[in-house]
Amino acid sequence: MKLLENISLKSYNTYGMDVKARWFAELRSDEDIADFYSTISLEQLPVLILGGGSNVLFTKDFPGSIAYIRSKGIVKLMEDDRHIYLKIAAGEVWDDVVNYTVDNGWGGIENLSMIPGSIGAAPVQNIGAYGVEIKDVIWSVEVADIAARHYRAFRPADCDFGYRSSIFKKQGKDRLVVTSVCLKLDKQPVLNIDYGDIRIELEKSGIMQPTIADVRNTIMAIRRRKLPDPAVIGNAGSFFKNPIVTAEELESLTSDHPGIVAFAHNDSFKLAAAWLIEQCGWKGFREGDAGVHPHQPLVLVNYGAATGKDILHLANRIIESVNARFGVSLEPEVLVV
Ligand code: EPU
Repeated sequence: MKLLENISLKSYNTYGMDVKARWFAELRSDEDIADFYSTISLEQLPVLILGGGSNVLFTKDFPGSIAYIRSKGIVKLMEDDRHIYLKIAAGEVWDDVVNYTVDNGWGGIENLSMIPGSIGAAPVQNIGAYGVEIKDVIWSVEVADIAARHYRAFRPADCDFGYRSSIFKKQGKDRLVVTSVCLKLDKQPVLNIDYGDIRIELEKSGIMQPTIADVRNTIMAIRRRKLPDPAVIGNAGSFFKNPIVTAEELESLTSDHPGIVAFAHNDSFKLAAAWLIEQCGWKGFREGDAGVHPHQPLVLVNYGAATGKDILHLANRIIESVNARFGVSLEPEVLVV
């Protein structure tokens, strides 16, 4: 493990922000992680754990240390007639793992195809798409507990999973570093194709008895159509979370704004932030190189030379206008640093 100084983060974040990290270490194993935390001094704090850099907006140079998690490996832990349990190192690329599981016919994460980022970040965010969240297939999350100086495994019930949220970004932030994730996958997959247009798209392609590979291909086609490819246009997926409101709040919003789009979410409702932003006229907006994606207004994009401050400024203008029109507060989903 080497601690490097003054490293550009441009190629380590999908917004392509050219900021510098004062210190930077590539961690390839659990030993490297332990080594890193026992080596860094007070002046090398704070620490930011970075996986794929696909959910972060850097607005300035980072004064502390970046722990860039690069551990690799997929191990079959156990298997029975129905399930297979895989232990996957935090530094594996999420979509490579999805591809691998789909190739093997193991179901559970095919709806999470093409989400950028690393395995380690997946439980932190409780990544979700097309009706599935990673919490649904997590068997355990293995972490290095920096404060207690030992390794632990968290079962899903201990992870406090919520919508794009978990213990790892709340009380566990700065204390728990995900080292690997164990997934319980289904050898006789049950498909989840009720979200949005998935079923219709499958039927349109003439697929009447879809496999998980068909579901993956369909979702990849939808994502390619709607979402910008970070390799081409800088972005971090949805910039905002869909706001959660109570039934009473929804009723009053619906009477003022009859077209409002909402989905049931546990005992509450999730408003489609994309709709709120579109109604405020932001869809396709561009100022300099900071913009709102023309197909999915939840995604703020960097067309090339926008800075993190430009994107943040745009985000704040959107938050203000949605608040002024609907009285609803949008919250960033992306980590603003
Ligand atoms: N909508 C509009 N205008 C648009 C796009 C969408 O009004 O231009 C409305 C539509 O009514 C649509 C609704 O918004 O039915 C929901 O749109 P969509 O299905 O595209 O999903 P989303 O709620 O906007 C969430 C996730 C995405 C995930 C999709 C699909 C969040 C913050 N975002 O977006 O995740 O891919 O569902 O499951 O929950 C991400 O987190 O980075 C991400 C891309």
